[in-house]
Amino acid sequence: MSKQTITSLQKSKNNTKLVMVTAYDALFAKLLDNNVDMILVGDSLNMSFAGEEDTLSATLDQMIYHTKAVCAGAPNTFIVCDMPFGTYTDETIALKSAVEVYQKTKAAAVKIEGGASKAPVIKALTSNSIAVMGHIGLMPQFVRSEGGYKVKGKDEQNTLQLINDAKAVEAAGAFAIVVEGVKAEAAAQITAAVNIPVIGIGAGKDVDGQVLVWSDMFGFFEDFKPKFVRQYLNGAELIKNGLSEFNKNVKDGSFPCEAEMY
Ligand code: KIV
Repeated sequence: MSKQTITSLQKSKNNTKLVMVTAYDALFAKLLDNNVDMILVGDSLNMSFAGEEDTLSATLDQMIYHTKAVCAGAPNTFIVCDMPFGTYTDETIALKSAVEVYQKTKAAAVKIEGGASKAPVIKALTSNSIAVMGHIGLMPQFVRSEGGYKVKGKDEQNTLQLINDAKAVEAAGAFAIVVEGVKAEAAAQITAAVNIPVIGIGAGKDVDGQVLVWSDMFGFFEDFKPKFVRQYLNGAELIKNGLSEFNKNVKDGSFPCEAEMY
């Protein structure tokens, strides 16, 4: 798989479905390199990596640290760095934060949660040569202000609002949009309404691509499996089986053997 660019990603619309997976470290990113269209260094790392309850306490320094690691592990992949909560509250703050991401990492783009109300911020970045991926629908950074994670696009009015959000994000210069936690029919309408790729997560199949969080799709997160996740591996079970074997071998003295000693 050759490295994607903004142009090649945009050409995929109505042509080839795009695959995006999250990664937070170099080791895992290396496994994804050349095997996905995009890697997202999502602020979901605050939950699955740092063990926090939501994404809100992720900092720009943390995102930069993890993005640098992912870029080192996956030099042949288009990498998107999530802008954490509070780092793009207005145009000036957003530009300062995103410039820092570009200067300190090799990320190809940043991602911003928000629809029409965030269009001026997106415009401030795109007009200063920073590639932006939008994110509308269920936006995890709104979990406290909305009182939970709420599926969107359940009625016509909300669907129209989402279409309006997607168009505003596109007009502000975003090259793609993540649409999360949206009824499949509404997501299909959003996808048809814009000319940039729509990457869905919990948004049905009539979108231009899919993104999943690595720990969900590979079964490392055991507490809860969202309805939209397909689990491709039972990672937690594999680790536990390996650990139990290691435990047994250490206790019974069979590890290390001659070949494993200097
Ligand atoms: O932070 C993240 O991993 C995300 C995905 C859920 C799209 O934003």
